[in-house]
This record gives sequence, structure tokens and C-alpha cells, in this order.
Amino acid sequence: MQTIKKRIAEQIVEAVKEINAEATLEFSDVAAMLEYPPDATMGDLAFPCFRLSKTLRRSPVQIAAALAEKISDIAVSKVEAVNGYLNITISNDYLSKNVIPEILAQGDHYGSQSFGEGKMVVLDYSSPNVAKPFHIGHLGTTVIGHSLRKLHEFAGYRCYGINYLGDWGTQFGKLIVAYRKWGSREAVIEGGIDKLVELYVRINNAIKGDPENGFPADDALAEESRAEFHKLEMGDEENLELWKWFVSISLEEYEKTYRQLGISFDSYKGESFYTDKMPAQVQKLRDAGLLKIDDGASIVDLSDYNMPPCLILKRDGSTLYPTRDIAAAVYRKETYAFDKAIYVTSAQQCLHFAQWFKVVEMMGYPWYDQLVHVPYGTVSLNGAKLATRTGNVVLLKDLFALAIEKVSSIMQEKNPNLENAGEIAEAVGVGAIVFYYLSNTRMKDINFVMEEALSFDGNTGPYVQYTYARTCSVLNRAGEVADLPMEISTEEEAALVKTLCRFGERVCAAIADYEPSYITRFILDIAAAFNRFYHNCPILTAENETVRASRIRLTAAVKTVMGNAFDLICLQKTEKV
Ligand code: ARG
Repeated sequence: MQTIKKRIAEQIVEAVKEINAEATLEFSDVAAMLEYPPDATMGDLAFPCFRLSKTLRRSPVQIAAALAEKISDIAVSKVEAVNGYLNITISNDYLSKNVIPEILAQGDHYGSQSFGEGKMVVLDYSSPNVAKPFHIGHLGTTVIGHSLRKLHEFAGYRCYGINYLGDWGTQFGKLIVAYRKWGSREAVIEGGIDKLVELYVRINNAIKGDPENGFPADDALAEESRAEFHKLEMGDEENLELWKWFVSISLEEYEKTYRQLGISFDSYKGESFYTDKMPAQVQKLRDAGLLKIDDGASIVDLSDYNMPPCLILKRDGSTLYPTRDIAAAVYRKETYAFDKAIYVTSAQQCLHFAQWFKVVEMMGYPWYDQLVHVPYGTVSLNGAKLATRTGNVVLLKDLFALAIEKVSSIMQEKNPNLENAGEIAEAVGVGAIVFYYLSNTRMKDINFVMEEALSFDGNTGPYVQYTYARTCSVLNRAGEVADLPMEISTEEEAALVKTLCRFGERVCAAIADYEPSYITRFILDIAAAFNRFYHNCPILTAENETVRASRIRLTAAVKTVMGNAFDLICLQKTEKV
């Protein structure tokens, strides 16, 4: 559709010039003004003429009529002027002879863009805090982050994915104390990250106490934890060994989840990596006169920007979350020379990012406007009873395990003889969660309802994966396909191709708005259009060879576009379900 829109927009620009030589209408404005009418009887594209009325000194109705006479293109079968709109219908012949062959020829690349070529994007996402649970709150950063990475790659950008592990901080002091008190090497080897989280939760509870029920807070334990972290910071060997071990156990566990999602990172440089990079930035802040002392702490005053101050150093001189982010951004700019640095976190961190982005600007770094925070809403969970070993959070891996288990039992009933049932259940179970999550605009707060996510009938992951598998099954059964010219003979086919050819635009919009849900919704549009075609138009038993061959190729085009779209949102392409 991008090509068609481009051609029509060019013609409109020319036609407007012919009507009034002084009228300057930009090509990009016209392209942006072309709309998709809500109803197919109004054509496939519409151009509203109201805004031109003033410059052309004619009524919109007259302008539409004049333009209608001038537009003629091989892609267009009908141009009508209706109530100040120019309604354009795309020709079936063009769809069959140009669009479908183009999709098939471009294959994996269909829908890809080139506007990112030569540019570098660094994406900071997932970034769980080691020793704290990797819970469903991290689903958003993980799948939105990875999807944005895929989208940018698809647009030609070079991408560098960073998992900024929360691998430093006082929690390690607590964990070390808890491990020595209640843990053992064997128990941690056996229980892995679950054991670490258990120890962490236990010491936190002990420190907090339960004063209402007669258990006072344990300040001594808190002090001991701080002391152990301090030792760690000073390079105490025993503590360093333990710390490294805890981090590696956690990473192994995260990688299982990432594997299930098909995600990998280019770097796991976590917070600890930036420890020695902060002093230089603190000094720079100080030299620039930006640091103020407030109750012993060092802050950057942001009252001119209606924000609370950004905390740089605590009273005891220790650094904070924003300090590390500033140092990390400088390092990344120097190391990767990014054109854009994207950070995906929950909306609760909006202020944090707004603050330190502003500080980077005040420090005089010219690239401050290349920093982008992409926030998302909260996730809660209803209905499904998940083990909450860790208190009140639901672990991501438990959510996946439950989805896989449920999908397995649904598949057992539907298709007991399926080969590789285990693998497929994993792809569909995990896919169900991902798809359900990414179906919503990212800022929306989501309440997870497992049954809805797993349903094979609703607008779900299993439904679209099943539809994809259906295209594969048709193609597997098709055998030899006659080499005949393509033909579109029904409205269902035309509607399906028109849906497919909007892919490129959806990709551009998803990148512009950092919104993977546009792709999810696009996939649903294809699935709906394909299933309508599938039910109403016989494919393998079509009335003659030309129609049969055309429909098979159309099915192949659907498989291609759907598959490309799946890749963009971490959804696996299941050949069989
Ligand atoms: N570890 C943090 C958390 O779980 C997220 C880190 C986000 N990235 C960053 N550069 N601040 O809340």
C-alpha cells in the first residue's frame, strides 16, 4: 500500500498544481492525508479535500470533482468524488499481478523498511534485579523491548540489546547474610534462583519484623547486611565470589525464560559494570556547578522544570539509580555511538527517566534528545491461582509453565496424535501470554485472565498460530502449482490482499509510536481476512486451475506476511498446532 499511496499522492500533488500553480502542497502532507475509509463502499483510499478549499479558493466538492478527472493509474480501478472526498478503489488486477508477486518475491523482507539504514539503536530492556523475583511485571519490558528491537532491525537499524541487570546494591549484602545464616551451597545448587529469592524474602521479612504481632524489626540484621555490602564494594574476595555465583545462577535461570521467548541479548552489562564510571560524571556535574547539597545529599535542582530534584549522591556519598543511569548512558554513547537509546520500563519509572534525561541535557551532552523512555502500564493477574512462594508476586516462569500445561491438555483433546506435542505446546503456551500481553496498547493497565489468553477461539495467540498452521497445511497439500497468471475472482480475496499490503505502514507506525500492539492487531486483521477467504473460497478444490493456483499463491503470501509479523512480536511460527 505504501507504493500505491505514494503513486496516488504524487498524482494529487501534480493535479493540485494544475488547478492552481501557486498552491504548494507537500507530497508528504498528501500521503499523510490519505485515509482508509471505514466502509468498503467508499473505496479503498480516500482523500479529503476540505483543507485545500482555502488555498484553491473552491469548495471541497468542486476540488474533489476536479481531482477525480485527473487521477488515473494502473493500480486504480475507480475514482469518485463524493461530498468533498476523493474515493479511490484499487484494481483487483493490480492486487493480483503486482502485490501478490511482490510479497512472494520479497519473502522474509516483505514489509521491511530502509529508513534506519546506517543508524544505530541501543535498547535497554528486561533488566531484572538479580536475587529479586523475575515476575510478571517484567513481561512488559521483556516483550515490548524485544519487539521494538525486531521492529527497528526490520527498518534497517543496527540494534544492540542490553540487559541492564540489577546486579549491584544493598540487596547483595542481605543475600550474603541470609545465605550464611540459613542457606548452604547444596541448597542453592539444588534450588537455584528460587532458593535465592526465598533467602532474600526471608531476610527482608526478618529485618522488617512484624511489630503488630510482637516481632520487632531487626536493625542489627539490617546493619550486618549493609556492612557485608560495604565489604563487597571494597572488593572482599569471599563476598565477591558469592556475588558472582549468585549472579550466574540467576542468569542461567533468566536465560531459560529468554530461550522460551526466542530472545537473546548482545550485552549483560549490569549496574555493577558502571561502578567505576560514575565518579567522572559526578565530577563533571560538580564542575558545572549543577550539584547542590541538600541535607547532606548531593542533588540536581530541577524545580525550573517542575520536577523534584534528581538525587546523585546519598549523605554517605554512595551513588544512586540515576547516577548509574547517567554514567551508563555516557558509556553507551561513547562505545556504541547510538543514534537513539531506548529504555523500556514500567510507567512507574517515568519520573526517574524524565529527571536524569534532563540532567544529561543540563550537563551539555548534545545527544540528550536521542534518549527515549518507553513506558508501559501495570500487569495484574486474575483467575489463575499461581503458587506465590515469594510472597505476593507471580513469577514469569510460573506463568509460562501454567500456560504450557493448559495448552498441552487442550491439544491432547484436540489432536492427540500430534508429533512434537511438547515443543508445540511450549510455543503456543508462551505465545498465548505474549500475544495477549501485546494486544493492548502499552500504556494500558492489564489484568491477565488466563482462560482468555489461552482460548483457541478469541483474538488470541493460539488462534493466530492456528491460522498460520492452517496456511502451512494448505500449502503442504497443494502439490505442484500451475504457472498461470494470478487472478482475483472474489471480494474475499481482494479484501485479504488489501489487508496484507498494509503491513509496511503498520511497521512504520509501530516504530513511530513504539507500539508493538499495532503489529498484533494487524495479525488479527490478517487472520480474520484469511479465515473468511478460507471458509468461503475453495482453495485446493477451486473451480479451475487458474483460480486454484491463484488461491494457493495467495495463501503463500498470507503465510509470508503473517510469519514476518510473528517474528516482530516474539511469536513462534508453528507449522502445526
Ligand atoms: N532493574 C530495573 C528494575 O527492575 C530496571 C532497569 C531499567 N533500565 C535502566 N537503565 N534504568 O526496576
